[in-house]
This record gives sequence, C-alpha cells and structure tokens, in this order.
Amino acid sequence: MKVIVVENYDEVSQEASQLVEEKVKGNGELVLGLATGSTPLGLYENLIDGHKTRNISYENVKTINLDEYLGLEKTHPASYNAFMYETLFKHVDVNLDQTYIPNGVPESAEEECARYEEVIDSIGPVGLQILGIGTNGHIGFNEPGTDPESLTHVVELNASTREDNARFFDSLDEVPTHAITMGIKSILKSEQIILMASGKSKADAIKTLLDSKENVNPDFPASYLWTHNDVTLIVDKDAYSQV
Ligand code: GLP
Repeated sequence: MKVIVVENYDEVSQEASQLVEEKVKGNGELVLGLATGSTPLGLYENLIDGHKTRNISYENVKTINLDEYLGLEKTHPASYNAFMYETLFKHVDVNLDQTYIPNGVPESAEEECARYEEVIDSIGPVGLQILGIGTNGHIGFNEPGTDPESLTHVVELNASTREDNARFFDSLDEVPTHAITMGIKSILKSEQIILMASGKSKADAIKTLLDSKENVNPDFPASYLWTHNDVTLIVDKDAYSQV
C-alpha cells in the first residue's frame, strides 16, 4: 500500500482527481469504480472542473458504484443513484447508460446481487476504484465480519453506520436497515484502488488499517486491502494523526 499524507481535505481531493484524470486521459475507455459519502465530494467537484475547463471527457468511460440502500427508489434524494447523478453525472459528459449502480428496489434482492456481479465481470475489470472508509473499517457497505470471499450481497447495516449516515436523511429512523454492496472479493477484482480519508473522525480507522498489515481480518474489512497489489491511500494530517 502506497501512503500519501497531505495537509488537508482539499489536497486529498486534488491528489485523487489528478490520479483519476491521468487514467481517464490515458484510457478513454476506463471502467471507473465510484464511491459515495462525503469524502469523494471534493474529488467529484475537481473532475467536473476538469471537464468544464480542461475538456476532459467521460464519453467513453463506464462507471460502476459500490453500493445502494435497499428500499430507496432512484428518485429518493438520499439514494446513491440520486447522489451520483447530482454530484457528478449530470455535470459531465458520461453516458448515463454506461453508469451502473445497484437497483435499491429490486423484485428479488438476491437476483439483483447476482445480476450486479455479472455486470462487474462483463464490463470489468474496474481499472480504478475509488473508496472511502467507514469509522468501523467498512469499505462499500462491507461491515465488520464480512467474508473476504464475498461477492455482491445484501447487508444489514450496523447501528454505527446508520448513525454516521443519518445526516443525509431527515431522521435516523429513515436510514434504511439494509443495503446491496459489492463484496470484498468484488472490490479486490479492481486493477487499482484509491482509498481516501480525511478528518479526525477517520483517525482511529486509519491507524487500525495501517496496523493491520500482518493481521488482515474480517473484524476490520478494509484490512483486506493489504492483499491487493495496487492500493494508494490518500490521507490528510487529521486522519493520519493517530498513526
Ligand atoms: C458509506 C458508504 C461508503 C463510504 C462511507 C464513508 O457508508 N457506503 O462507501 O466510504 O460511508 O463515508 P464518508 O465519506 O461520508 O465518511
């Protein structure tokens, strides 16, 4: 794992957007794995700026997201489908038919998971996957205890994850209890991974991650990133402050 420590959130976003833009410029047909949450917002703003001011095109890029809440229609403002449309897709020239996010209201969640894993394999491998990290070490929505061999699956969200994400909803009660997420094995199929972390709230998670190299374990799902050969952690001083 390559570790890049920078001053602050803006620099985390800057480092990440440079890596993404280099990939997009080098390979117009990139499959780009995307994440939600607050962490990638600055990255997405920079990508929009690069598209508008430096003509970087996403016309031939395919995107695939990590996860979606079960029970939320695409039109629900807190759905990850809506989040991606509002924060990135509507501002760049990506072809919406080439953006993939799980369906949060499938007839059968199990069938949707199998379908989504087939999508990953048919358009993949993901050339570059963006990740954030949960305070409990989750990646995507792979909560502690997740099998490292897991493919796309249904998860029950931990109480701490629902609390962390309640800020996107009107109340904690409205946060869905379940989600569909790429599994750990699905994520590790990516050719290159960028993990972004910023702020004091992530400091314990980053310390645990960096201490877990010799102790990769399901209690801290992000530790499995040590088993991948091309991971770059971009972290600011606050998130690195416990290391
Ligand atoms: C959510 C997402 C993750 C994300 C994590 C951290 O639970 N499913 O993909 O990495 O939250 O979010 P934030 O960046 O808002 O701290």
